[in-house]
Amino acid sequence: MAKPSVPNSGPVCVPCRLAVIGAAVLVLAGGFAYTAGWLTPSRLTAPRLIDTFETVAGQPHPGYRRNHAKGLCIEGYFDSNGDGAVLSRAAVFAPGRTPVTGRFAVPGGNPSAPDTSSPVRSLALQFLLQNGEQWRTGMNSTPVFAVHTPEQFYQQLVAAKPDPATGKPDPARLKAFYAANPETQPFQAWVKAHPPSSSLANAAYYGINAFRFTDSAGNTRAVRWAMVPETPYAPITDAEKAEKNFLEADLDQRLENGPLRWHLILTVAKPGDPTNDATLQWPDDRQHIDAGTLVIDHTTSQENGACRDVNFDPTILPAGIEPSDDPLLAARSAAYALSYKRRTREEALHPAVHQAQTNGEHS
Ligand code: HEM
Repeated sequence: MAKPSVPNSGPVCVPCRLAVIGAAVLVLAGGFAYTAGWLTPSRLTAPRLIDTFETVAGQPHPGYRRNHAKGLCIEGYFDSNGDGAVLSRAAVFAPGRTPVTGRFAVPGGNPSAPDTSSPVRSLALQFLLQNGEQWRTGMNSTPVFAVHTPEQFYQQLVAAKPDPATGKPDPARLKAFYAANPETQPFQAWVKAHPPSSSLANAAYYGINAFRFTDSAGNTRAVRWAMVPETPYAPITDAEKAEKNFLEADLDQRLENGPLRWHLILTVAKPGDPTNDATLQWPDDRQHIDAGTLVIDHTTSQENGACRDVNFDPTILPAGIEPSDDPLLAARSAAYALSYKRRTREEALHPAVHQAQTNGEHS
């Protein structure tokens, strides 16, 4: 029987082997250094974004989100009516109930900021599907975003850095940023025409970024979604403007009278509608599908509630929903992960961080 051929195993070259190992280590270290942005200090990375959020916040707020720091946890469920299944095979759109954990918040890095510090409110949700999948989404109360690229978002943050003399953003610098970035116009115009809501309960919350929905036959379409409240919109009152924490107080009071409801409205793009630009709305005549009802029945504090240690990364999606080509999505995912890493590390190292913040500043 013929012997199997053995590869030629010559004498072992120890220096060669060490050189190969050394090269592998260098490549790995280089990869880490590049990812962290050390080799390219001008490149936009998650650490640069998060460091800038921290500078804009003024003082450190350990244990809290680096953006949308002020908020509260919510619990409830989503009752799907089955109509969303024409767009996506995601199990959440089959008829039936899906438990939901979530969080209301206001943008900004200070967990003790007054509710009036931003005209925007936010709603983040984590749908816990029966098949073990999750759908996480972070939505704002505006249908468009101010900027359309991560770089512009960074420039906007830099423009909003507090002036050391006043402790507030320099209005001239912000004005110059907006003038240099006309894409911010639709957002500015929308905010001007829509006074902030009087409650978290009567605001609509928009996913803003486009996503790709695939149905059970394999057809894919671009879709945006919004949670539209059953509670009629009313603008903020003068009395509320004077109250630092009116949003949470109002929500608790409303929930004493029963759960609050929103409808999940899916909007389908037509070919040619932009999917990579969150500053642009799609025309009103696009197909809308009411996929079911979100019911929120109670709140817990963000210091101890179930939402505290959740990263509402908008790219965590069930099969049947995928990210679009919107460049904000990948930037959000990276930034949220780093914010999550820093805040949960702070919690782990100093379990009393939330207590200190709650006792010291929340009144
Ligand atoms: C490049 C663009 C963006 C960056 C860098 C960014 C950054 C952040 C960061 C760092 C957080 C805190 C995350 C955490 O610690 O869990 C956050 C929270 C949030 N962001 Fe963004 N964001 C961006 C765009 C957007 C857009 C387009 C929306 C709206 C669709 C949005 C909605 C939210 C919401 C709702 C939260 C709060 C989530 C929660 O309650 O935990 N963000 N953002």
